[in-house]
Amino acid sequence: MTYGTIFITGAASGIGRALAVALSAPGRQLHLADCQQRGLDETAATCKAKGAETHLTCLDVTDQNAMTQWCTQAADRPIDLLLVCAGVTGGVDACEKDGAAFETLEQIRRMMAVNLDGALNAILPMMTRMRAQPLRKTGHLTRQRGQICAIASVAGLVSYPGTPSYSASKAALDRFLVASGAYSRKAGIHLSSVCCSFVDTPMVAQNCFPMPGLSSVERAVTHILRGLKRRRRRIIFPAWLVLGSRFMDVLPIWLAEAYYIHQPTGRPGSMPRLDQ
Ligand SMILES: NC(=O)c1ccc[n+]([C@@H]2O[C@H](COP(=O)([O-])OP(=O)(O)OC[C@H]3O[C@@H](n4cnc5c(N)ncnc54)[C@H](OP(=O)(O)O)[C@@H]3O)[C@@H](O)[C@H]2O)c1
Repeated sequence: MTYGTIFITGAASGIGRALAVALSAPGRQLHLADCQQRGLDETAATCKAKGAETHLTCLDVTDQNAMTQWCTQAADRPIDLLLVCAGVTGGVDACEKDGAAFETLEQIRRMMAVNLDGALNAILPMMTRMRAQPLRKTGHLTRQRGQICAIASVAGLVSYPGTPSYSASKAALDRFLVASGAYSRKAGIHLSSVCCSFVDTPMVAQNCFPMPGLSSVERAVTHILRGLKRRRRRIIFPAWLVLGSRFMDVLPIWLAEAYYIHQPTGRPGSMPRLDQ
């Protein structure tokens, strides 16, 4: 499909920004949303320099009304692609004397609100809108109405003790998209979930541990755009780490737990809390 009109959340930074820039070209209309106005302006300046038309909205993705309103922009045109990139992360606090470690209640609620509800606040109105769009030719045998892709995480494929609510929010997002994909495809709407390891963005800049499978943001964008072109339901990279994580998830829980809590990755206190 040739993308003409594209909506992106989380476009002020990291993966969302890099996707916006990579997709910028003359004739393309980009609708960019984020809670950081300055970051949005910077993204838009680069996109415009590449010839794209940009429309910026500063909002919080947890605001359902604002998101529904955002999804009505460009009412005169079909939407080709929605990229859901806004997200937050955070780890469990440093260990207490007995080795116990917890997330704050506020962090757990916020993680679910942004990573799951915030994503649905974009996906659901856009699915409704795409269902009413005409089917358009995308190849000699294929036709589609639109594509929706959200950045989940490899953390959604494992029960990761260092970031429980992040794992849970991303697991729900990934499972929703993958499970909804079969019937949506019949309506010409292609859904994709990105399950990737660490990507070098401001989100992970303060992590105090070696990040396995760390990709540059440019490499991540290449994987995502290739996966979208092939209409992959689940876009994964790096494959070795995603497949290794799937293997961990079929092990007895005690064994996977014993492995994970002895890894430096995500050890209590090694990732900033959401409010830090
Ligand atoms: N980087 C990684 O290693 C990695 C790996 C797997 C998956 N992911 C996922 O990929 C997505 C993009 O991550 P990234 O690395 O590009 O992070 P990033 O650089 O922090 O960009 C995320 C953007 O979303 C914004 N945002 C956060 N909460 C929001 C809200 N409630 N409403 C509107 N905008 C909000 C952020 O603003 P603030 O700066 O104010 O928070 C930021 O501008 C996230 O969903 C993340 O979970 C990232």
